[in-house]
Amino acid sequence: MPDSTHDAHCAPFVPLPLALIRRLGAATLVVALAGSFVPAAPALARTPPPKAVLDASAVAVPDRYSADTAQQIFAAGGNAVDAAVAIAFTLAVTYPDAGNIGGGGFMTLYVDGKPYFLDYRERAPQQATRDMYLDDKGNPVPGMSLVGFRAVAVPGTVDGMWEAQRRFGKLKWKQVLAPAIKYATDGFVVEPWLQKRAEYASKSFAGKTNFSVYFAGLKAGATFRQPELAQTLSRIASDGGREFYEGKTADLISSQMYGHGLLSKTDLVQYKAVWRQPVTADWNGYRIVTAPPPSSGGVGLIQLLKMKADLKPAFAGLDLNSSAYIHLVAQIEDRVFADRQQYMGDPDSYHVPVDKLIDDAYLAQRADEVTPDEVPGATPVKPGLGDSMPERAETTHFSVVDKWGNAVSNTYTLNGPFGSGVVVDNAGFALNDEMDDFVAKAGTPNQFGVTSGDVNTIAPGRRPLSSMTPTILLKDGKVSLVIGTPGGSRIFTSIFQVMTNLYDFGMPPADALAAMRFHHQLLPPKTIYWEPYHPITGELAGQLKGLGYTLEGQKFNGDVQMIRVEGTTPEPAADPRGAGVGRVFH
Ligand code: GLY
Repeated sequence: MPDSTHDAHCAPFVPLPLALIRRLGAATLVVALAGSFVPAAPALARTPPPKAVLDASAVAVPDRYSADTAQQIFAAGGNAVDAAVAIAFTLAVTYPDAGNIGGGGFMTLYVDGKPYFLDYRERAPQQATRDMYLDDKGNPVPGMSLVGFRAVAVPGTVDGMWEAQRRFGKLKWKQVLAPAIKYATDGFVVEPWLQKRAEYASKSFAGKTNFSVYFAGLKAGATFRQPELAQTLSRIASDGGREFYEGKTADLISSQMYGHGLLSKTDLVQYKAVWRQPVTADWNGYRIVTAPPPSSGGVGLIQLLKMKADLKPAFAGLDLNSSAYIHLVAQIEDRVFADRQQYMGDPDSYHVPVDKLIDDAYLAQRADEVTPDEVPGATPVKPGLGDSMPERAETTHFSVVDKWGNAVSNTYTLNGPFGSGVVVDNAGFALNDEMDDFVAKAGTPNQFGVTSGDVNTIAPGRRPLSSMTPTILLKDGKVSLVIGTPGGSRIFTSIFQVMTNLYDFGMPPADALAAMRFHHQLLPPKTIYWEPYHPITGELAGQLKGLGYTLEGQKFNGDVQMIRVEGTTPEPAADPRGAGVGRVFH
């Protein structure tokens, strides 16, 4: 159980001393001799590139604690992958509504001049069934896939971090977990935004889960300590990433789920993160490297960017975010979401026609359908490849580059705020509610209002469709942009808008992030969502209504963390909508 002390005058958190980091690095890994999990292997010896190609390493991260972690890791000689893994574990402690070890995500990497993609998305438990969230009349039971034991899918984060760090990291596994363990043990000072998120979650979980037992102490100004989580992370540090799936942590998860949820020890033992080919495309002189299925985000982002480029004459002379501009973008978005609904799912269950969906000729033909005279909703937008085949978004993103020119773009999630609200007893971390990213009943929208057909129904072992879009842009083989955001189905429309601001409108990074963002998707039809940060009001609102749109406020439209590299200089930038931090390490 966590321990929190409300002390407005408490001393600031002291980062882990470098001397301690070095000592841990030199320490022999403690390898458990008993048990069936794979013992911790030392990081593979790799020869670093001979010299730095950038002036500095840099991060754009969602909180200041993870920026301090990155500083320690780079100071200890770690690379971008070491920093990314250390950031991910730190956020599991200091950003517990979305940072996690009980969820999953995607990592896009560029290491030693090559692109990689790691899928550590959650999977449906073996006992999951297609209709598990339907009542006896065949209708989805509200909330069932969002709150409590039955909403939980098999977590992938720890295996993902273990895979990435073993393959590409330079430091010892224990070294990259050390900052997170320190924050869990000694605590961190809670910011007001985290208190608000915890209060919000507490209301929705009241009487349904054990959430408050663990997270009631998240009060602004308090030092929040998580001793059980510290023990869990220490076991993972000592015994390796498979401890989570095969050791004591697995036993704690499965014994709590027994008789309540579907997740079993077998599901955990069988879980493996998967290396996949990233989706790549050429656009505007850049090579885009982004997320493949089971994310819809990479394909969606490329479709948006290419169709907008095809429509250059129509966009010519239009002011950014004028009603005419928004009207054209909304029509492009209708087409992207129609394809998403029809074709996108787990690539290990279905053939997802990625190449066809990002094909230049196909997208040019789809862009041809977009016209300034379109009356919103008048002609239903259908998927473009024909009938070939039978997800507030508490996700978080961080971007990392190191001075050797490597980059990591990582988005991971618990899905809803603090996931399912179920906290693993005696282990101290929240479990996801990623099962809601499946379609409970074909054609019925999830919490993001997006729907899918058969391609995203529940089946044992299947991965739910995601929108997470960790992306890297290359120019002449070198990293030029690292970008991503939380936001569910708003993820790739947000990244699209920031990239458009940067490259089509030539804005500096801070302005590109601060500019107004809107969202539109196929359903509900004719709806333009605006955000509190930059509401759509006055003349613009009147013009959009005049075109036939309904305007709808939404609580959240992303928290983009990005790093642009200009020449040899990394420029990190954090979205002003959140508490993110951009930091450069010389
Ligand atoms: N749970 C949000 C996503 O995967 O896109």
